[in-house]
Amino acid sequence: MSFNWCFIGTGAIAKKVAKELVTNPGHQIVSVFNRTKKKAEKFAKKYNSTVYESALDAIIDPRVDGVYIATTNETHFSFCKLCLENHKPVLCEKPITGNARELEQLIQLSKENNTMLKEAMWTWYNPVAHKVKQWIQEDRIGKIQFVDCIFNMPIFGYNKAKGRYINPSRYGGALLDLGVYPVRYVYELFGKPKSIQSTGKLYNGIDLYNDSIFDYGDFKANVSSQINALVGEHCYIVGEKGKIKVPLFHMTSKAVLKTREGKEVFKDKKKKFARQFRVVAEIFKGEKPNELVSLESSLDVMEIMDEIRKQIGVVFPCD
Ligand SMILES: NC(=O)c1ccc[n+]([C@@H]2O[C@H](COP(=O)([O-])OP(=O)(O)OC[C@H]3O[C@@H](n4cnc5c(N)ncnc54)[C@H](OP(=O)(O)O)[C@@H]3O)[C@@H](O)[C@H]2O)c1
Repeated sequence: MSFNWCFIGTGAIAKKVAKELVTNPGHQIVSVFNRTKKKAEKFAKKYNSTVYESALDAIIDPRVDGVYIATTNETHFSFCKLCLENHKPVLCEKPITGNARELEQLIQLSKENNTMLKEAMWTWYNPVAHKVKQWIQEDRIGKIQFVDCIFNMPIFGYNKAKGRYINPSRYGGALLDLGVYPVRYVYELFGKPKSIQSTGKLYNGIDLYNDSIFDYGDFKANVSSQINALVGEHCYIVGEKGKIKVPLFHMTSKAVLKTREGKEVFKDKKKKFARQFRVVAEIFKGEKPNELVSLESSLDVMEIMDEIRKQIGVVFPCD
């Protein structure tokens, strides 16, 4: 299937995903916009793409089948809006918006203009996470007793000078940057919790860490993220009959199920960004049902994150 992408933003993640995207047969990056034109030109040279002076011009290039937004968090809303207003399907990096209210406006626009919007939550366009969900749904580990899902990276240390991670007006902090993954993971497995209790440590108006207990009635899930700690990332799910371990759960190639019957390991070593773009292109072209990472699920996740921010006192200009 051929699919022509427009890239808005040519920073670190855009560079990383572009390399994989073009390995998909028929996928090309035809149009590019970046705030700093020189960087767009360097990027475009690699992929034989056209560089535009404005995001609008890049989006409305008639060859473009879909737009990928890879700019910083606080710009997602306006770029998504521009795509939807111009009837171009759009895949936007995580977190899709700063809060649920911004996303509700985009959902409305997406419906009015009959144009799709999806969040680039790559974990859930790939099979490992879905295998974990299947094991739970098939009752392989029995009644859930406890869940621990954490994502820590020492971003604060190495990006302190850069600033966007510690700036509330740029929707910074651990929750929006990393926490969106554990919140999404636990949400995908168990849905919205009955209640949430959160604590956190603030710095400059953003959270250096947040730690939440999601209460599901019969069990509780510990969900946390930190930008001032050493690397640590896992999701452990413990049940009465066994347990599931998913190290590096947001990007993992492997999940392990242990029960009394023995150990089962599920592996998927395929390129995960490539697959995300392939699946989304199929959805945009109507060749696949629009089920994975639905807008409703992104809205539920934003609502959970709004609640956590409310409890720990992180406020963004969009609130
Ligand atoms: N899926 C993943 O695994 C993953 C990983 C990392 C990041 N992300 C997400 O991807 C997004 C970008 O992250 P990154 O690490 O690639 O950041 P980055 O390397 O700092 O790149 C940021 C990009 O945003 C542009 N930008 C910044 N402020 C802007 C503004 N006011 N108007 C227009 N463009 C602006 C920059 O343009 P200039 O070149 O002009 O500065 C650059 O293209 C974030 O939302 C992040 O959460 C996703």
